[in-house]
This record gives sequence, structure tokens and C-alpha cells, in this order.
Amino acid sequence: MFGVKVSSIGIYLPSKVLSNYDLEKMVDTTDEWITQRTGIKYRYISDEDSSTSDLALNASLNAINNLKTNNIDKIDLIILATNSPDYIVPATASVLHGKLKTKTNLISDNTGSMDVFSGCTAFVYALITASSLIKSGIYKNILLVGSETISKLVDWKDRTVCILLGDGAGSFILSYDEDSTKGLIDANVGSDGTKFDLIYIPVGGVKEPPNCENLNNRYLKMVGREVFKIAITLVPDKIRELLSKNNLKPNDIKLYIFHQANIRIINGIMENLGIEANRVYNNIDKYGNTSAASVPIVFYEALQNGLVKEGDLVLFSAFGAGFTWANVLWRL
Ligand code: UT7
Repeated sequence: MFGVKVSSIGIYLPSKVLSNYDLEKMVDTTDEWITQRTGIKYRYISDEDSSTSDLALNASLNAINNLKTNNIDKIDLIILATNSPDYIVPATASVLHGKLKTKTNLISDNTGSMDVFSGCTAFVYALITASSLIKSGIYKNILLVGSETISKLVDWKDRTVCILLGDGAGSFILSYDEDSTKGLIDANVGSDGTKFDLIYIPVGGVKEPPNCENLNNRYLKMVGREVFKIAITLVPDKIRELLSKNNLKPNDIKLYIFHQANIRIINGIMENLGIEANRVYNNIDKYGNTSAASVPIVFYEALQNGLVKEGDLVLFSAFGAGFTWANVLWRL
């Protein structure tokens, strides 16, 4: 078995910023309500012409430019985690592949491409998938991307959802390492498909194809309060299980990277587990909930701020539509 290292990370945010005060002019809400209930102050919104593959392209080029080693001559596979795909068919990873192929020699016709499409948990699911493929020796380098233009799936008249979400992308280049203790140590995942309609888009798939009558249902619907209630107890329970299986206590983890859904959910998880404040880094105030992109974006900023170094234990944790959840124990 090989180890896995994060050879490089890049992120990309669109240029347009939407503040809570901007939202006050669009729906019946206030900066005070949004800040107190969610911790969000700003979110980035992509322009009309940009799609998920465009944001993914910029984040990935950023990661490629940030590579400190010349040892990588080829990326074997692109895995893209998203809930706002460019098309239903093909995978957005394939669209990204086409765009990257003209810009870097690392991507060729021998680079595979696939999407992971499992709610806000998608990036963490994809991290487990990519790491396992590298650990087993099948692939050496994988480009792992979380990218969303989820703002395009939002009903901007629905104040219960539109205040939460933002666009963005983050890319990891994951590589094999001779040191088998590096990277993925353990993970737990789960889902409850009976709750698929807590967060979903009713119209647009084959179940309910769009027609003249149902277009109002082509937007993301969410039973926020229910999601909140599940997440705040399920996530800490599952983290506790993963830690105890590995003989670890909550404060043995140097840094927790939580999906940025709601600051009250994150604080509730921390309180439940007794996690010290300096072991968590959040940026939900700046970006809102960027769905499958939130984990790579928050990890990128944590690295930039020097919060972790080689050898440190990190725990990645996410939950979302499905209902799905996943936790990853990782050694840098
Ligand atoms: O990435 C994973 C996906 N999603 C999530 O993680 C979302 C999880 N859930 C949440 O973050 C929270 O449940 C929300 C932020 C969505 C809502 O917060 P809440 O504290 O659960 O509020 P609530 O839904 O219980 O609503 C409280 C009140 C309601 O009014 P009434 O019925 O008490 O009169 C809502 O109509 O707040 C009202 N409300 C708003 N008021 C001002 C709902 N949205 C807004 C708004 N501005 N934007």
C-alpha cells in the first residue's frame, strides 16, 4: 500500500460578491437574520456565461501552477464533485478534461474523467475514492475537484435557500507517496435515501422532465430545519465513532475541516465533541455554503494560514443531499 499526499491545491471564486445587504433588496430578509442564523455575510456568484467546468478549470490551473515538484508528468484521472453539473450527460469532469487538455501536458487522452454527484458530501466521498485508487497503486496522480455554480439552481425569490448558497471551486492534486502512513488513514460514510427529498431539485431529471407547467420546480428545495436537526447530532456521533475506532480523542486532531453549511451546525458539533476552538477553521462568512466546493476551499485557506504542517492529523467532514454524510481521517 502507498501513502497519499496533497501535492498542490488551487481555488477559484467568481468576481461578483453578493452581500446580505444586497439580498435585503431582493427578498424579505435582513443581514441580522442571515448572520445570526447562518454565520454568512457574503457569497460569490458566477456570471451568466460561466459554468461549473469554467470554475473548475480556473481552480485546477491554479493547483497546477502551485505544484512545487516537477515529479508529476501525468494526471491519471480527474474526479469532479458537484451538484450543479454543466450537463446531465456527459460528466462535468469530461468537459473539464477537454478544457484542460489544451492548456497542460499533464492531461492527455490517457487521463480518465468521472463525476461524484452526492450532495454537499460529494468532495469528501471523492477524496475517499481518489485516495483509495492511489493507495492501491492503480493510479499515481489524481486531480480532485469540487466545483459549483449552484447559484444557477437557486430560486432567487426563495429566501429560505437563496441566502445560503454561493459559487466556487477548489482542486487538489493527489499523488502517491512511498510513506504509507501519509494521507487517508480511515473514513466512515453513510446515507439515508428515504430522506432524499430533504434537499432536492424536483424537475429536470428523467423522473419529472421539464415542461411548461412545472418550471417553478426546477430549483433547489430544502427542508432546512430538518437538515439542521439531523446534521447537528448525526455528524458528531459519526466523528466520535471514527475517532474511537482509531484510538483518538477529539482534541488529538490538529484541524477539523467542516463542510461550511451553517456556523451554528459547526459550533454545535464542536460543542458536542468538546473540540477546542483553535482546531477548526471556518470561512462561511465570506463564501456561504459552496456545496461540494466548501471543503477544498476551506482547506486551501487553512494551509495558506499555516494552520497545519506535514505529519498533522486532519479530519474532513461533510453532510448533505441524499441524505449523505462522510468523515475522513487524514495525515498530512
Ligand atoms: O449543505 C447542506 C445543506 N443545507 C443545510 O445545511 C441547511 C441546514 N439548515 C439551516 O442552515 C437552517 O435550518 C436555516 C438557516 C436554513 C434556517 O434556520 P432556522 O433557524 O432553522 O430557521 P427556520 O427554518 O426554523 O425559520 C425560522 C423563521 C421562520 O419564520 P416563522 O415560521 O418562525 O415565522 C422562517 O419563515 O425564519 C423565517 N425565515 C427567514 N426570515 C428572514 C426563513 N428564512 C428567512 C430569511 N430571512 N432568509
